Amino acid sequence: MGYFDALIEKFEDDPALEKAFGKHIHWGYWENPNQARGTLEDFAIAANNLSKLVIEKANIINGSKVLDAGCGFGGTIRLLNESFSDLELVGINIDQIQVQRAKQLIKAINNNCIQLIHGDACNLPQFNYQFDYAIALECIFAFPSREKFFEQVRKQLLPSGKLIIVDFLINSQINALWRWFQKELLSRLITDTYGSKATKEVNFISIEDYKNIANQTGFKLSKVIDINKNVQPTYPVINQIIINNINDWLTAKGLEYFSLFNLISYQILIFEPTE
Ligand SMILES: C[S@@+](CC[C@H](N)C(=O)[O-])C[C@H]1O[C@@H](n2cnc3c(N)ncnc32)[C@H](O)[C@@H]1O
Repeated sequence: MGYFDALIEKFEDDPALEKAFGKHIHWGYWENPNQARGTLEDFAIAANNLSKLVIEKANIINGSKVLDAGCGFGGTIRLLNESFSDLELVGINIDQIQVQRAKQLIKAINNNCIQLIHGDACNLPQFNYQFDYAIALECIFAFPSREKFFEQVRKQLLPSGKLIIVDFLINSQINALWRWFQKELLSRLITDTYGSKATKEVNFISIEDYKNIANQTGFKLSKVIDINKNVQPTYPVINQIIINNINDWLTAKGLEYFSLFNLISYQILIFEPTE
């Protein structure tokens, strides 16, 4: 079983783990990666800082309507709830257990409204308003289809809205090779190591693939923020806890080295609707 499939059960015996992954299930962001301390406590702060950075780069303001697709335990929603007022916040996640935990952890304050929904981000419910922002933070690679997600978001996003994707991008020079290995082997290795509860298959793509999807679905890529160097200290911290066998070792170390050499890189992409 992949490490993240049984995360909540592990929290009971391991408070440090809960501190690290109890709010956010994503990589950490270090403004200065040389100062990373390699501990779970330090990682927890860095994970929260990644959500802060995404919120800052999206320019979210009071009174906004925000969709967080693949919201996990709702860590980003929680941060928005604590930092802004008069927000309409919607989180959707395919795993009911994560949604339940998010509901237990987050109570609306600051005149915000929060809805946490169990469902597939590629099959969004119809809302009776349009969103200012849609976020998919480190989860779109597990969705059944990026195209479908973009199409669905396009219909429910204001013309002035923004779609913010945080994802691992494959270097264009190895994209064709990566695709072949991903289909035959890598997707299975990655889900076996990290988790296969939400999806049996992961799919990583290049920036050109993203531009094509945006073109086909009424978006343009307006900003690319490469934070690969700033998330690098995540690998040694996470590798310590997820490696249980040789396959895990190969996968985790493989991703670490691919990331080190920018063959796979962690980026924030901001898309805006076209006419
Ligand atoms: C790496 S976690 C990131 C969680 C959250 N965005 C965060 O930053 O803490 C990936 C999340 O995507 C969710 N997920 C996977 N496929 C999904 C889908 N089709 N619809 C909604 N959520 C999905 C998983 O259950 C998991 O919570």
